[in-house]
Amino acid sequence: QNLSIRDAVPAACAQIQDFPKPGILFYDVTTLFANPQVFRRCIDELTERFAGTFDIVAGVEARGFLLASAIAYSAGTGVMTVRKAGKLPRDTYTKEYELEYGSAAIEIHRDDIPAGTRVLIVDDLLATGGTLAAAVNLMDQAQLKVAGVGVLLELEGLGGREAIGPHLVESLSIVSE
Ligand code: PRP
Ligand code: MG
Repeated sequence: QNLSIRDAVPAACAQIQDFPKPGILFYDVTTLFANPQVFRRCIDELTERFAGTFDIVAGVEARGFLLASAIAYSAGTGVMTVRKAGKLPRDTYTKEYELEYGSAAIEIHRDDIPAGTRVLIVDDLLATGGTLAAAVNLMDQAQLKVAGVGVLLELEGLGGREAIGPHLVESLSIVSE
């Protein structure tokens, strides 16, 4: 309870040695989401760090949705979903990004949100930054203004911050992988 948020976040994650491959320590956020005290602290902390700078919160499918909705409710803003490709029924902006094996794509609807709206993008984890850089690219395509990027956990040494570029990136905790 008295842990700083920086220590509380990794402590609340289940940590799995050698997953998905030998030498990797995997941080599983499902236990953090299930922990009422730590979940609330994370939502409050992210909401506070970006207070007054955003008009809407964008959550990246799937784990980012859980954060975005709670932050938006707390801040009194709307929420938008950045979806895996093929889910949205109307015209979309699309951005492909690299995964460890192969590639994936994420999308947002065109014209849902007025140009110039200030968007806070959130996700659970910043690793290589491929996912969040793609989310930023979607906001650029839609002429939305990226207020910043917020994550629970940042894995150090994978170039995630650099991949996102000049935007403000706030991570509640930083761990070496
Ligand atoms: C994980 C995680 C982040 C992303 C981080 O999502 O939730 O979104 O990877 O990795 P990166 O910084 O190297 O891009 P995943 O694609 O596994 O999907 P999920 O959230 O739907 O489980
Ligand atoms: Mg994800």
